[in-house]
Formats: sequence, structure tokens, C-alpha cells
Amino acid sequence: MLRSKILSTGMYVPPNLFKNNDIAAMMDTSDEWIRQRTGIEQRYWVDENTSTSDLGVEAANRALKNAGIDKSEIDMIIVATLSPDHEFPGTACFVQKKLGLPGIAALDIRQQCTGFIYSLSIADQFIRSGTYKKILIVGAEVHSKGMDKTTRGRDVAVLFGDGAGAVVLGATVVKDAKTDSHILSTHIHADGTFADELWTQAPGTGNGKDRINEQDLLELRQYPKMNGKTVFVHAVKRMPETLLNALQVNSLTPEDIDLFVFHQANLRINDMIAKQFNIPEEKVFNTIQKYANTTAATIPIGLDEAVRAGKLKKGMLVASAAFGSGFTWGSAIYRW
Ligand code: ACO
Repeated sequence: MLRSKILSTGMYVPPNLFKNNDIAAMMDTSDEWIRQRTGIEQRYWVDENTSTSDLGVEAANRALKNAGIDKSEIDMIIVATLSPDHEFPGTACFVQKKLGLPGIAALDIRQQCTGFIYSLSIADQFIRSGTYKKILIVGAEVHSKGMDKTTRGRDVAVLFGDGAGAVVLGATVVKDAKTDSHILSTHIHADGTFADELWTQAPGTGNGKDRINEQDLLELRQYPKMNGKTVFVHAVKRMPETLLNALQVNSLTPEDIDLFVFHQANLRINDMIAKQFNIPEEKVFNTIQKYANTTAATIPIGLDEAVRAGKLKKGMLVASAAFGSGFTWGSAIYRW
């Protein structure tokens, strides 16, 4: 049976490290508050000359190198980001230009923290259908240029880091589903009822006469706004729900999964899910402590870190789940 599998991973974070105490020097917050509420200890933020596509290209080049393939073999590039280089065209076009791959399909996914799962799902369909053989998926974010880094914006600004992760997804013929690497399933969901519980309002055509005006800037509508409690409540409901569905569809139990690589919005969210499913600590691979929430980059960063740490090995069964703005959520189960 024709399926897709992850051939390789790659990641990149910019060199500028900001510990919680560095953030506390910018706004009224503390290392203790951030650690206790979120688990975050540090994050990396870009300098003024670095864009989302710059981070994405670094991660993509590492994934290409690790796949041991020539970039000319790539049929399509998918870039998931909520922090694009420019309003348009999509960041995938900038990544494509910098990689030197003119002519192939380039697609942006705007599903925030669930962006990587959506991208994986879409790429999987293109490969299963036989349309493409190799697809480069990049999750990349530069949050630091889009947040209010003063006390006013502290509820959001402490949570996010910049970074990029990438995978090369390739076609594979699965002979034995119990041993061969492949994507078993992906599930993607959204509920736009909650679109404005976590959003950046401006610029946008939903803002009256102008996409952005002086009043928008005065009222700081260019910065993300989050109803943290509502997001938390929905995350701890939807992530277990989609995970359970994915397990049931594949006739699996949580015990069958060797490693869980969840989205990293808050360590407390992932701890609650682990507790609910009785997942032992060593089976959950968390990176939020080091990188904070890197949104669409989070899961591919986690996969790459897990591979390099020797925690993710060939033949292992892996489960991912994510939840974020939209609201959007989803899950994937794959044999490494
Ligand atoms: N430092 C210090 N104090 C702060 C900070 C800060 N950075 N931010 C807020 N506070 C204060 C608040 O003002 C409030 O003070 P008050 O009690 O005097 O009013 C107090 O701390 C408590 O704030 P809460 O919002 O109640 O804190 P809570 O325990 O809910 O934690 C958090 C906040 C960490 C944001 C949590 O709600 C959360 O993790 N939510 C989910 C985030 C998430 O999943 N995001 C989704 C992905 S992002 C995406 O898709 C783009």
C-alpha cells in the first residue's frame, strides 16, 4: 500500500537566548511566575535582520541534508506559520526562492499551533494519491517581532519563542504496517466560534474601512490577544479527544505508543493529558522549557530534538496532538 513516511527532520533556532530573567528586565514578570504557570525557562528571539523564511530555510536545509537527498527531488513545499515574512505572497514562496526551487508547488498553512499537523495531513494526502513523491514541510515562526514586549502584553509575550522545524515526507510502499515506517493517520479539526479568543485583529479586512488605521495602532490591535483561561480549558479537552480518536481509529491503546510529541503551549496542559492517559513521564518529549511555544515549528522541532537525543528510533510508534488559535486542533500517529 502506498503511504507517506517522514524521511528526515531538521530544526533551527536563532542564536539570541532570552532567559526568563532577561524577560523580567523588560516587563513586570518573574522567572517564578513563568516557570510555575508554563514550565518555560528560556526562548530564542531573532535579531532585526532575520525573517521567518530565514529560519525556515535553515531548518529545511538541515532536513534535506539528513534525508540524504538532492533538493531537486522535492515536489512541493508547505510552510506553516502565523508570522509570515509579508502579508502576501505566502512565506512558502520566500522559502522556495531562498532554497532555489522555482516551479514546484508552494503552499502556506495558517492554522497556528496546529499548523504542522494540518501540513502533515495535506502532504500525506498528496503522497497517498500518488501526485507527489517528496514534500518538504516547514513550520517556522518569528513571534518576537509581533508581540507587545511591555507589561501590557506580558500575558502573551512571555509564552512565545522564535524557531523553525522541518521534515521531508516521502512516498513509501508499506508491506508490513506493524514494522514499516509510515503515517498511520492524521485528524484535523477547527471551531471558528472561538476565533477571537486568540487572535491578532489588525491588519485585516474585518476592521472596517481600512485594513489598519491609527485607532487600531492606538488600541494595540496589531498585537496578539489571548483569553488564556478559555484557551487552556479547550486545549485540555480537545487534545485528549483527538488523541483518543486517533488511537481508536488505529485500534491502538496509549500503551502501544512509544513516544508522544505534543504541541508545547504549556507544560501543565501536557502534564494533564499524560495523567489522563496514564502515560509515563519518559514517554512524553517536552521542549517548552528550552524554546517556549514556537507554534507551527514546535512539533517538527520536538521530532528533531528527539531524534538527536536518541529518544526517537526507527520502528517506534509516535503520537502527536496540537491545539491552538482558530480554535484548531489535530493529531497524527506515525511509525518512525
Ligand atoms: N507575569 C506575571 N504576572 C502575569 C503575567 C506575567 N507574564 N501574565 C499575567 N499575569 C497576571 C495576570 O495579570 C493575573 O493577575 P491578577 O490575578 O492580578 O488579575 C495573574 O497573573 C493570573 O493570570 P491568569 O491569566 O489567571 O493566569 P493563568 O494561570 O490562567 O495562566 C496562561 C496564564 C499561562 C497564559 C494560561 O492561561 C495558558 O497557558 N493558557 C493556554 C495558552 C495556550 O494554550 N495557547 C495556545 C497556543 S498559542 C497559539 O495557537 C498561537
